[in-house]
Amino acid sequence: MSTTAVVPRSSKHGYRFLREFITQPFVIGAVAPSSKRLARKMVEGVDFTAANAIVEFGPGTGAFTTKILRRLSPSCRYFAIELNPTMADLWRERHPGRTLHQGSVEHVDQFCAREGIEQVDVIFSGLPWASFDDRLQEATLAASLRVLKPGGQLITFGYRVGTMLPKGRRFYRRLPKFFSRVERSEYVWRNIPPAFVVRCTK
Ligand SMILES: C[S@@+](CC[C@H](N)C(=O)[O-])C[C@H]1O[C@@H](n2cnc3c(N)ncnc32)[C@H](O)[C@@H]1O
Repeated sequence: MSTTAVVPRSSKHGYRFLREFITQPFVIGAVAPSSKRLARKMVEGVDFTAANAIVEFGPGTGAFTTKILRRLSPSCRYFAIELNPTMADLWRERHPGRTLHQGSVEHVDQFCAREGIEQVDVIFSGLPWASFDDRLQEATLAASLRVLKPGGQLITFGYRVGTMLPKGRRFYRRLPKFFSRVERSEYVWRNIPPAFVVRCTK
């Protein structure tokens, strides 16, 4: 089975994404998959040629996955972690031959151990951090730091409304306690809703 094949996104993915949002709004955290522009912004500036291991958090139907896989070097290890079983099934349909662990990102270190990965260069996150309680934010950031190599990055995104919600505000305040550098991009307006990218360096 090919490991590079990607089944293109179709209206089915948008519809199922919305349906999952209605069922589990705080887990899904968005009404639609991220746009191609936001996906491009997420991977911008990442040195894929130097990366040995990349992990994706909360890939949903794979809005960022396609951009990541296209740039991945043949020797780079990659896997995704997705909590929602419907999203996991849709993702596996679109990315045959690629690995997705169904579970919670707070156990990323255990999933890495299972994959035989000791250090991760980049974590791409599609997670709805502003829906995560303090325990889950802390546990996930701590587990991420345990697997990231020195200088490794957690690259994530946020919505303006998320920065105004109490849990979202606490998340952005928490980042500098975990990472030595935190940089935020300008808004990507062509996304529903407009979003920005945050690059956190260990
Ligand atoms: C806002 S959606 C983003 C999906 C996709 N990355 C995108 O940008 O279109 C958030 C995704 O994170 C997943 N998720 C939420 N909490 C999670 C957790 N604790 N562990 C793993 N995935 C989680 C949701 O099921 C959902 O697929």
